[in-house]
Parts: sequence; C-alpha cells; structure tokens
Amino acid sequence: MRAAGLLDGKVVVISGVGPGLGRGLALQCARAGADVVLAARNEERLAEVAKEVGEIGRRAVPVTADINDHAACERLAETARNEFGRVDGLVNNAFATPPLKDLTRVDLDAVRRGFETNVLAALHLTRLLVPALEETGGSVVMINSAVLRHSRRTFGAYKMAKAALLAMAQNLATELGPRGVRVNTIAPGYIWADNLKWYFDHLAKKRGVTAQHIYDENAATTDLGRLPEPDEVADAVVFMLSPLARAVTGQCLDVNAGEWHH
Ligand SMILES: NC(=O)c1ccc[n+]([C@@H]2O[C@H](COP(=O)([O-])OP(=O)(O)OC[C@H]3O[C@@H](n4cnc5c(N)ncnc54)[C@H](OP(=O)(O)O)[C@@H]3O)[C@@H](O)[C@H]2O)c1
Repeated sequence: MRAAGLLDGKVVVISGVGPGLGRGLALQCARAGADVVLAARNEERLAEVAKEVGEIGRRAVPVTADINDHAACERLAETARNEFGRVDGLVNNAFATPPLKDLTRVDLDAVRRGFETNVLAALHLTRLLVPALEETGGSVVMINSAVLRHSRRTFGAYKMAKAALLAMAQNLATELGPRGVRVNTIAPGYIWADNLKWYFDHLAKKRGVTAQHIYDENAATTDLGRLPEPDEVADAVVFMLSPLARAVTGQCLDVNAGEWHH
C-alpha cells in the first residue's frame, strides 16, 4: 500500500535509521514522494537503506551521526539544508533502550544516559531544524511507545523517557504552532521487525516453545489479532507529515492494532 503523492516535493530528516521502523520510515516517506536525510551511527546500514530509497526513485542522503554529539547534529541539519535547500519534516525515531530493571534497582546513571538520547537529543535536533521547518510550514513527529499506556515492572525507565518525550512534543506544539510548525507523536505497540523477532526467539528458547507460539500469544492481545509491521507504523507518520494532517498538532496517535485503547 502506498500513500503516493502525499509527500511529493518534500524533504524529511529521519533520526535513528535502524533495521526496523527507521528503515520503514525511510521507505514509506520515499514511496509517498519525499527525499530523505538518514541519520544513525552505523554507516553500512545507512548506505543499504539509502540504496533502497534510490531504487524507489527518490534521493537519500545518509549522514553518519551520533545524535548525542552536538556537532554531529549541527552537521546533519546543515547537510539537509545544503543538499536540498529545504526541510519539511523531522522524525525523531532514534532510541537507546534504557535498562529493563525495576525503578527501585535501576542504575541512575543509565537512566540519565537514556534521557540524553531519547529526550534531550531529540529536543536538540528539533531546535536545530525549527528555522528550516518554519520556512516550509513543516512538522515534527516524535516516535513514542505503547509503554505510555501501562506500568509494567522493569519498564519504568523506558516509560519515564517516553513520557518525557510526549510532554516535550506537546509543549513544542504550543510553542511552535504560532510559527506554523506542527509537532505530533506516534506511539507504536509491538513492531513486527528484527528486534522483536530476536526477542520472541529468545523468549521461545527460554520457555521451550516456538517463536510462533509467542507471536500468537501477543497477537491475541490486540483487536486485529496481529502485530503491526514497520510500514504500517510508518504510514501513520507519513499522514502526520502530510497536508492531510494540516490541522493536527500536539496529538498522539497510537498504532498498535488495538492492543491499548487511548
Ligand atoms: N521495536 C518495537 O517493537 C517498538 C515498539 C514501540 C516503540 N518503538 C519505538 O520505535 C522507534 C524505533 O524502534 P525500532 O526498534 O524499530 O528501531 P530501529 O528503527 O530499527 O532503529 C533505531 C536506531 O536508532 C539508532 N540510534 C540509537 N541511538 C542513536 C544515537 N545516539 N544516534 C543516532 N542513532 C541512534 C540505532 O542505530 P545506530 O546504532 O546505527 O546508531 C538504532 O538502530 C523507537 O523510538 C522505539 O522506542 C519500538
């Protein structure tokens, strides 16, 4: 399925282009007509995804960057403007998994490091691109998580970071609305891609069952009886970036096949 034409002529910067949603975002934005600037630390993966974008007929500029590094973020913003002369969208997708331990035991420095990547780096990158987004009437999408919707043990540090990211998106919407820039959030549940496949394999081995059994157990907790794939989550981001969402800002859209209702 393609949102053909929705992002025609637009340029989208995507942080954290990994094998899962990051790649899906790059490809779906390209299929919707956008050129893309792709940032992550793994140069090889960026090149692979950029090649796939090229095969769709759009241009991708890979920028190897650690978003915790201020100078690298400045280089990323400059590259986007120099290569394309405009920026219409920023997707803050990069994510560092905080330690999955109870809050009563978790190492506070590790929690702090999680905040640096998952919250403050996203804020820094957004600030750098606001002038360009203001020129185009562009928009920002923060990738959040269904962790917002529950308080399960060991997910406390993850939830704290994502809750801060949501709060940040809402306040930025208020600050940037008068400047013509929209800021929204997409909160995926499970995303059926490499990371989750690896995790389900790990759980299956631990429990002595098949990975399909773990998939079926989790899929049964959703209204649609399946787990969303990266393209399906990415399409919600394309919508938020597109003119179809021109009156939508400060909102959070859950894309979880109905696992949680919000
Ligand atoms: N996977 C799920 O089931 C799931 C569920 C709910 C929400 N989400 C959210 O969806 C988003 C994408 O998750 P995903 O699992 O699909 O991952 P992904 O898009 O496949 O990859 C994310 C990438 O972020 C990059 N990254 C991490 N720290 C970075 C840094 N300091 N600077 C630059 N890039 C950095 C990493 O690439 P490098 O190592 O190359 O830098 C990583 O591969 C995340 O925000 C996550 O919280 C995921």
